[in-house]
Amino acid sequence: MRMKFNLLALMAVLVGTVHAQSLQEAYRDYWRMGVSVNQWEVKAEEAVGSNLSYSGGVSADQTSHYQAIAQHFGWVVPENCMKCEVIHPQEGLYDFTLGDQLVEKALANGQHVVGHCLIWHSQCAPWFFVDDEGKQVSAEVLKKRMKDHIFTILGHYKGKVEGWDVVNEAFNDDGTLRRSKFYEILGEDFIPLAFQYAHEADPTVELYYNDYSMNKAQKVEGVVNFFRPLIAKGLPITAIGLQGHLIYGDTDYVKEYEQTIQAIASIGLPSQFTELDISMLPNPYGFSGANVSDRFKYSEMMDPYRNGLPADKQEQFDQFWIDFFKMLMANKEHVLRVNFWCLNDANSWRNDFPIKGRSDYATLFDRQSQPKPTVQKLIQLTAPAPVAGSKKSRKK
Ligand code: XIL
Repeated sequence: MRMKFNLLALMAVLVGTVHAQSLQEAYRDYWRMGVSVNQWEVKAEEAVGSNLSYSGGVSADQTSHYQAIAQHFGWVVPENCMKCEVIHPQEGLYDFTLGDQLVEKALANGQHVVGHCLIWHSQCAPWFFVDDEGKQVSAEVLKKRMKDHIFTILGHYKGKVEGWDVVNEAFNDDGTLRRSKFYEILGEDFIPLAFQYAHEADPTVELYYNDYSMNKAQKVEGVVNFFRPLIAKGLPITAIGLQGHLIYGDTDYVKEYEQTIQAIASIGLPSQFTELDISMLPNPYGFSGANVSDRFKYSEMMDPYRNGLPADKQEQFDQFWIDFFKMLMANKEHVLRVNFWCLNDANSWRNDFPIKGRSDYATLFDRQSQPKPTVQKLIQLTAPAPVAGSKKSRKK
């Protein structure tokens, strides 16, 4: 099977119909091409009988998916296993088991790793904000805990993880700061402090701010206005991460994200798309964003494609990504990384967000990890134009 595929691929290259074998190859001169990876794609043993709550709902051996991950993506991000509740579940107790397996697998496949994420109100272990008696800790204690957390994790992955989402989701959609526990205890200083600690822990590593709904002008304005003076004072920050959990037909994402990329470029930073996926299902109650605690009730009406995505919807999906990538290509000097969230439709968290138990089609690979037609269409976008005077170009 594999040999047959390779033979076909080789023939295609020889007759000049394929200019690249993978997304990462096609976009080598544009940006870093990445995807998130879950623990079952890394190691089968972890899957059997696992009852981890941060699973994203899949518990079967998916290690065969790694072939597609390694072929198409030069960069990987852990979907869950480096989040505080997993890696630092109790004070002073660090569990690097799953993170280490992921890093080892990625490096063995010649890939780069981005860490996700250091300071985030969600999936944060509850001990972080309280003392032994359950009382909220002081600003000094929280700073010490943040510093220890960041130093220990960055120290452990030094030389292996090349960039970190330092702070995740600190802003509301209206551009104000989210009233999280970090904010409540430390005020807005928790953001520059986190970057400072990360830079002190490892001055060689790239540092990112990451958030969702970054197509919304008000939110982008809040983020840009917040970071502008900090950057002027020397904040060590490499890029702004735009998650990109999209809903088909919701809004003009192409136009809005182009404006975002330009707004971020105006403070001297590149953008990176960090968690791209697009739900093809009905949008419950005008929902937008990616606040992981927002949930709605299941109904069959909200889950219309249980037996597969209709062909016209697949074409809409393809066209959306073509338009989106064309916009990215036009802005490539401001785009550092383009990262998808979950390799395939079977393990995509969108099957459970914001409604649990639906069949969504939000990723580039089908439930068997086979590339959708989208992948080849995106690869073709960077193909060199036919040589002038050739048969094909004269035909037009
Ligand atoms: C999601 C994971 O994909 C799920 O498996 C998990 O149950 C919840 O978190 N924003 C982020 C990601 O920064 O970490 C979230 O990942 C999706 C929203």
